[in-house]
Amino acid sequence: MSKITAAITAVGGYLPDFVLSNQILETMVDTNDEWITTRTGIKERRILKGEGKGTSFLAIKAAENLIEKSGVDPKEIDLVIVSTATPDMKAASTAAYTATQIGATNAFSYDLEAACSSFLFGMSTAAAYIESGRYKKVLLIGADKNSSFINYKDRATCIIFGDGGGAVLFEPNEEGLGLQDELLRSNGEGREFLRAQYGGSSYPITSDTFNDGSHYVFQDGKTVFKNAVFNMADVAERILKRNNLTNDDVNWLAAHQANKRIIDATANRINLEQEKVMMNIQKYGNTTSATLPLLLNDYESQLKKGDTIIFAAFGGGFTWGSIYFKWAYNS
Ligand code: UT7
Repeated sequence: MSKITAAITAVGGYLPDFVLSNQILETMVDTNDEWITTRTGIKERRILKGEGKGTSFLAIKAAENLIEKSGVDPKEIDLVIVSTATPDMKAASTAAYTATQIGATNAFSYDLEAACSSFLFGMSTAAAYIESGRYKKVLLIGADKNSSFINYKDRATCIIFGDGGGAVLFEPNEEGLGLQDELLRSNGEGREFLRAQYGGSSYPITSDTFNDGSHYVFQDGKTVFKNAVFNMADVAERILKRNNLTNDDVNWLAAHQANKRIIDATANRINLEQEKVMMNIQKYGNTTSATLPLLLNDYESQLKKGDTIIFAAFGGGFTWGSIYFKWAYNS
């Protein structure tokens, strides 16, 4: 019997309607379209509005889109993982609510948190369940309502982040397609440079922290930028080398969309032509856990069975990694 690999067999996505353009941001903080475009590549991002609507709203919509497109019966789904850095609540699983709402009533479910690498690490987890033969259908969702913890008076962060959700279905494959290899890393010394500190168990919110806004996301952009450029490019290059791949063998780079300059640097390190680099940061900004599945959703019609995709991500923690993947279907 051939070895079972874990393939992606369907994708879906969801973006909220409200468009926060660079022009609107110009009226909110001291910034301008030219600076944001040249320093990040972002033109606009989407924001989820509406009281009580959190990350599960984005996750449910993305999963429903996948279910509608693929025709998969939600009752056949064994496991729902919601990769997110912005769960609905501190102590109730966002994935459990999401699974129930989409009708995945025979599934168990849980959240997975690794900042901007949440979805990439979730791919590893989902694939391991499939490869082991333990489960047959794993729904992996990456969703974040970043606007819930961004300070819209802080130009260092509010220009970058947006809200969104994406979903993929992992199933067994007997043609050797799907996840081929992974190189995942973390370094906790990075946590001081990108964090939403207050509200966590070490730092409960008090009226003081609330009043000075320290429950919002803080980022030392320059340090994060340097580490992201070095580490994402490094793991992408290493995964190519250890699988004896050259740039000619790679059809696509699907890199976390945090800053166009970081994505370009990763592509340059592995000598990849611009046409092979998936890019949607201009439309959505950094949607944290949703960037990779939203890339797949946007590029799905261009992907061919057998295409080699190199995934790469870097995020708070620090967390980062790269996955070598083979696409399993023509749409
Ligand atoms: O997804 C998780 C991982 N996150 C990332 O990968 C993000 C990594 N970091 C970045 O993408 C970039 O560091 C930023 C986009 C956040 C900032 O870009 P930068 O090129 O590192 O800018 P900087 O902080 O070094 O600032 C350069 C200049 C400064 O002015 P002076 O001191 O040179 O006069 C800033 O005050 O740009 C100024 N500046 C701005 N100007 C207009 C900083 N932010 C802004 C702004 N609009 N929003």
